[in-house]
Parts: sequence; structure tokens; C-alpha cells
Amino acid sequence: MNKKQIFTSEVENLKITTLMDDKADRQKSYLAQHGISFFIQFTANGKDHTLLFDTGQEYEPILYNTEALSLDLSKSEKIFLSHCHNDHTGGLVGLLKKIDKKIEIIGHTDLFRDTYKKMDQLVYKGVSEKNSIENIEKNGGKLNLTKEPFEIFPGAISTGQIERDTGTKPTGYVNQVGEDNYETDYFLDDMSVVFNLKDKGLFIVTGCSHAGIVEILDHSVKVTGNDKIYGVIGGLHLLNKDEVEINEIIAKLENFNLQFISAGHCTGLAAEYLLSKKYGEKFKSLNAGKVFEI
Ligand SMILES: [Fe+2]
Ligand SMILES: [Fe+2]
Repeated sequence: MNKKQIFTSEVENLKITTLMDDKADRQKSYLAQHGISFFIQFTANGKDHTLLFDTGQEYEPILYNTEALSLDLSKSEKIFLSHCHNDHTGGLVGLLKKIDKKIEIIGHTDLFRDTYKKMDQLVYKGVSEKNSIENIEKNGGKLNLTKEPFEIFPGAISTGQIERDTGTKPTGYVNQVGEDNYETDYFLDDMSVVFNLKDKGLFIVTGCSHAGIVEILDHSVKVTGNDKIYGVIGGLHLLNKDEVEINEIIAKLENFNLQFISAGHCTGLAAEYLLSKKYGEKFKSLNAGKVFEI
């Protein structure tokens, strides 16, 4: 397959530090909370780069873990928000105050929509009030909202909106599009980051994989023109699926011949167990405080 021009460089020394996950690493004292945040460091074109991927639910436990890991958050050059949910965007303004400089924040054009979970009544699930556009901008955030794939740093791209068949099935979530007007929310804002790993292939970082992990991998191959995917890290959102459905997805993942898979957060314990059974040593559990040098 011909490599498309979206990558202008390869990436080396990829280091992913898990600032937040639903479980905490046992090696040291770290805090866990439902949510995800990664501090990602790498070298491209001989230059070091740092990307903060998602900001968890609250900034305080992330700051605690950052100190325990001796990391300097102010070294973040850009922030990527995988989607609107509070467990990925909740800590944003708190972390901006700590970063304390002008910084680009990348997300989908629908990031700030009014999205609700349908329960006995509608429960708001969008970006919280404390992380409003006004508060973000007041604290140094410069929003770059786009649904197109583009290169964030040399060798690292946003997938943009994931192409997929949304069908007509209800998702249990709705977007408010008028005073009394709602339509199904398909989480079209769900985006991932893809690295062009030297000698290895693509490496994909996901938030919740609401678009579907197989769809995300297919889309990444299409956007990059590279069908060699080395690895995946993040939430796979399989927690509401039964064993048959999980095994169907694992069977589809086999086509990609992944050499590294680390899944936590909304993956669900049943899916984590089945993935670890399938992938053996190639499966790494994901915990707050865990560092991966890939
Ligand atoms: Fe999530
Ligand atoms: Fe989510």
C-alpha cells in the first residue's frame, strides 16, 4: 500500500505515561478515577515533542500522579481532547492553570454540543460548565476544532471524524438541536491520535473508542495509507457488551496483527480478560501511573 503524505516524519522514542485511568498501578502510590489522561513524549525530525491526551475527570488526582511521576505538565506543547465526555475533559481548565501558558487544544467541531443521556430524565453529558469555551480561553487555551484528519506534530496525526456506519439504532444519547428538538447522538466527535512509529508501523491512542475500535483502526489505515498497525492504547468501550460480542470484535482485531495492546478505562474487566487471554504478553494492563516506552 502506498504511504500517503499525511505524515511528514517518523516517530522515535515514543513514551506514554498514564496520568489517569480507572485503576491505579501498584508499584507506587497513584490515584485512580474513572477517566483517561496520557502524557505522551516522542522525537520526530530530531526534535522532542509532548502532547497531553485527554484531561480525566478532575485535575487534582492528575496533578497528584504527575508529581508522583516527577513529570512537568507545563512541558505540554498541545492538548488533544478525544471527545466531549466529562471523564476526558473534566480536568481541562484546572490543568490549564497549572500549565500556565498559551496552548493549542485540539478537538472535533461538535465538542461543545448539548448532549444528554436518556435516563428517567435527560442527564447532561457534554463538556461541563467549568470547562466552557470562555473559561478555556481565559486560561490560555486556544481551541482548534476540526473534524478533518491533520498532522498535529511531525509524525502524529488526528484521525479526524471516524468514518463508519451509524445506522439508525438508538444509542441512548441525544443531542439537543432546538428548544424541544433532539436527535440521536452517535458521538461523531470521537477521535484518536495516530503515530507513525519508525520501523514498526502505526500506533494509535484512543479515548473511549465510541466510534468502535475496529472502525478506528480501519479509518487509521485509510487516512495514512499504511496497513501495518503496531499497537493500540486507551479505552475500548466494551463494558456493555456480552462475551459473544466481545469475541466477535477480538476476532476482527486479529486482521490487524497487533503487537501491543493496552486497554483500560471503559474497556470493561470481561473484555480485558478476554483480550489478555488472546494476546498473552502483548496485552498490557492499563493503570494510572503506568509508563510505556514503545
Ligand atoms: Fe470515557
Ligand atoms: Fe466517553
